[in-house]
Amino acid sequence: MKGLILAGGAGTRLRPLTHTGPKQLIPIANKPNILYCLEDMRDAGITDIGVILGDNQPEKVRELLKDGEPYGVRITYVVQGAPKGIAHAIGCAEDFLKGGPFCVYLGDNLLKGGIAQMVRQFEASGAEAGIALCHVTEPQRFGVAELDSKGDVVKLVEKPKEPKSDLALVGIYFLRDSIFPIIHNLKPSWRNELEITDALENLRAEGARIAAHIVTGWWKDTGKPEDILDANRLVLDELQPRIEGTVEEGAEIKGRVEIGRGTVVHKGAVIHGPVIIGRECQIGAGTYIGPYTAIGDRSVIEVGDVENSILLADVHLATHHKIVSSLIGSHSHISEDEDARPKGMRVVLGEHSHVRL
Ligand code: G1P
Repeated sequence: MKGLILAGGAGTRLRPLTHTGPKQLIPIANKPNILYCLEDMRDAGITDIGVILGDNQPEKVRELLKDGEPYGVRITYVVQGAPKGIAHAIGCAEDFLKGGPFCVYLGDNLLKGGIAQMVRQFEASGAEAGIALCHVTEPQRFGVAELDSKGDVVKLVEKPKEPKSDLALVGIYFLRDSIFPIIHNLKPSWRNELEITDALENLRAEGARIAAHIVTGWWKDTGKPEDILDANRLVLDELQPRIEGTVEEGAEIKGRVEIGRGTVVHKGAVIHGPVIIGRECQIGAGTYIGPYTAIGDRSVIEVGDVENSILLADVHLATHHKIVSSLIGSHSHISEDEDARPKGMRVVLGEHSHVRL
């Protein structure tokens, strides 16, 4: 089975972070989201993978994934350009995909437990297409499936105002050549996209059987800053402790903490896991890094109190203000006026931000 990972889309809901790169590259627990998808495919035995590139700095995706060799897969890049929908992206990859069943994985989705079981189930089902579903609290934000009492798909609707069920379509699809003529005839939706949900609904209406797999572990579509922080927490919940850097005597490390090579945690710093800190960082004396925080490579926390946040690479923090539930782009610099009093704050900062408190 071939695979297709989507790395296009505008990522408008994640601005300003997506001004400097595609949303699929935003790190969750210090690893770009798209790498989780790639590894899920590889671990399910899918190694011939197409990657769809959009028009928002696609070169950054190529830079990371290269030809796939570092990750044990073979990558073929397909340029979609402007974001015209998931079905459009699949249509762009027709030449690469046709000739057998294939799996599509949206590069901003994250799933506990991988996709190996789903792949096996779809192969065994003999169905024309396969979808993954997950019970959610806000189904109107997603594609929604209605199942009959036997568990067969009877209706698929994209972002219904009045959802008929709480089963959202997870961004993983199993398809065959039969989807291509349907995509060719598809009309754009209200958001001017060719929707995969509409294509699947048309396939179903033609009499094709669509197998549904209900996801039991967690699933996240990292489309909004809150979702990214949620995903970060979920991944950090499974973090294995690993200290490769230097922890000076007098620094306190509690719980599950990963510290990358070349990083120094100075005497007097306190880290309460789960926390992941990348390579070559400096964690200064008197800093507190609280649970569910991920800090990217080469960041310097001169003084700081951070919790439930993601700091990308090369961030410089020197403030007594507590940083909570925040997303801070790479090369951001946060400092403070000398007479500032400590207060909690929430921020979403793009790359190269400068904040003076
Ligand atoms: C897309 C699909 C939607 C699906 C979701 C999963 O939504 O259109 O059916 O539930 O991905 O992540 P979008 O992220 O484009 O709003």
